[in-house]
Amino acid sequence: MITVFGSTNLDQVGTVSRLPKPGETVAGGTFSMAPGGKGANQALAARRAGAQVRHVSAVGDDAFADMALELLKSGGVDLAQMRQAEAATGIAMIFVDAEGENVIAILPGANGTVSAADAEAGLTHLTASDTILVQQEVPQAATRRALEIARERGARSVLNTAPFLPDTPELAPLADIVVANETEFSLLTGRPIAELDAAMADWVKKTGRSIVVTLGPDGARARTPEGSLSVPAHKVKPVDTVGAGDTFCGYLAAGLDAGLSLEAALRRAAIAGSLACLNPGAQPAIPLASAVDEIAG
Ligand code: RIB
Ligand code: NA
Repeated sequence: MITVFGSTNLDQVGTVSRLPKPGETVAGGTFSMAPGGKGANQALAARRAGAQVRHVSAVGDDAFADMALELLKSGGVDLAQMRQAEAATGIAMIFVDAEGENVIAILPGANGTVSAADAEAGLTHLTASDTILVQQEVPQAATRRALEIARERGARSVLNTAPFLPDTPELAPLADIVVANETEFSLLTGRPIAELDAAMADWVKKTGRSIVVTLGPDGARARTPEGSLSVPAHKVKPVDTVGAGDTFCGYLAAGLDAGLSLEAALRRAAIAGSLACLNPGAQPAIPLASAVDEIAG
């Protein structure tokens, strides 16, 4: 069983020919709304990968709450530990241009109320055979408590360092596996991207735990106390990369939870992340396991 502890958003997406600059107005394009938020996206990805998934998070007391949870609900994600806050539902305002480039502003609303008490209340079920997946769109005190509870219970913990926050370097060693993109990993270690391999080796030496760095079109690299490995991405022409990292994390957690080797889980995660770039939006673009298996073989 996988528990995702983190954020839930409703994504408000404007598809435009080019991104407006500060102070500039760009007319034309189309508007759509879809469920999003890194936590919720990762929960749905793990579910589509075939796992049993519980999502522990908060939505607001407005009309957007149901819309934000629609795909998790229809997808069979357990929402019993969701809390309704006296706040707005988290919103991500996203613009995507014709090249698939995006800018995102996040208005956290209910996500900003997620606390260490939510981790205490929502993770009482966690056992040593579980996997917990956390990201950083909720306050860091909550994320920290979730990681501590995972440790206390002996559950496998995966921390995605997106978006990068000031306390990330201090929190990250609490997780069994850290998943970062190149920029985040560079911030985490204070080392330039050119020193990626050496910095990954030093991280494992320092923490005794594992690190995965996602490399976009170049796949992903992992380093564990046992060694290192790389997996390729599946080559695609990206339409919209929003949600690709979340899809990777959800698939990785699901693979490990199902008992796959790290290499097999990473391979599927990299393919799933690539496929998520082929369709607009975050949750609507998360591929089904059958599509990933077809490529993974
Ligand atoms: O990682 C993608 C997500 O980031 C979007 O769904 C949006 O909600 C933002 O939080
Ligand atoms: Na997408």
